[in-house]
Amino acid sequence: MENYQAHETAVIDPGSSIGAGTRIWHFSHIMTGCIIGSDCNIGQNVVVSPEVVLGNRVKVQNNVSIYTGVTCADDVFLGPSCVFTNVINPRSAVSRKHQYERTKVEKGATIGANATIVCGHTIGAYALVGAGAVVTKDVLPYALVVGNPSRQTGWVSEYGCRLEFDDTNMAVCPESGERYQLSDGQVSKL
Ligand SMILES: CC(C)(COP(=O)(O)OP(=O)(O)OC[C@H]1O[C@@H](n2cnc3c(N)ncnc32)[C@H](O)[C@@H]1OP(=O)(O)O)[C@@H](O)C(=O)NCCC(=O)NCCS
Repeated sequence: MENYQAHETAVIDPGSSIGAGTRIWHFSHIMTGCIIGSDCNIGQNVVVSPEVVLGNRVKVQNNVSIYTGVTCADDVFLGPSCVFTNVINPRSAVSRKHQYERTKVEKGATIGANATIVCGHTIGAYALVGAGAVVTKDVLPYALVVGNPSRQTGWVSEYGCRLEFDDTNMAVCPESGERYQLSDGQVSKL
């Protein structure tokens, strides 16, 4: 008896591991060799390609394809219709199956609706990629990036609120009250 839930229209290929409490909605396809954590929510019309690894409590909104080479850590949020890639210079007539580039989405990060992540980059922990952004470089932990090509416009807390650093490089999340420090161009939670 499996302890995850999948809608009757979902297709789960053999050879994947899916954690307890995970829900998989209409017309989604989990391909072979995936490792999906517990308490994830995989929306409608989602494809999880072979050997993709998703952590626990990952939320995947509708119409997302997570290609081989992508990993998402715990608590990652993938907005509706966001796009991953795994080949930098695809050609239909040239097989590049052995050249898949890796994309890492680290703990707690959010990818906004319709954003595109060009492969080979890391989205740092708790980073927030704005709706429609095109990410072409690594994104720092806690960074807010928007636009095409995406540029960093600020910092966000683990609650996704903007962080305003004072002249001692300290900031307080307005929602959680948690304190953050900016040091050498990197944010850390105190
Ligand atoms: C990026 C984001 C977090 C910024 O939110 P915010 O801090 O409230 O920003 P504001 O609305 O105050 O906008 C600040 C500026 O950034 C611009 N901006 C906001 N979001 C933007 C985006 N996604 N791309 C480009 N520019 C954006 C605004 O136009 C504004 O520009 P201006 O200063 O020239 O007027 C938010 O707009 C966003 O894209 N969230 C993702 C939503 C999403 O995809 N959810 C998925 C689940 S439904």
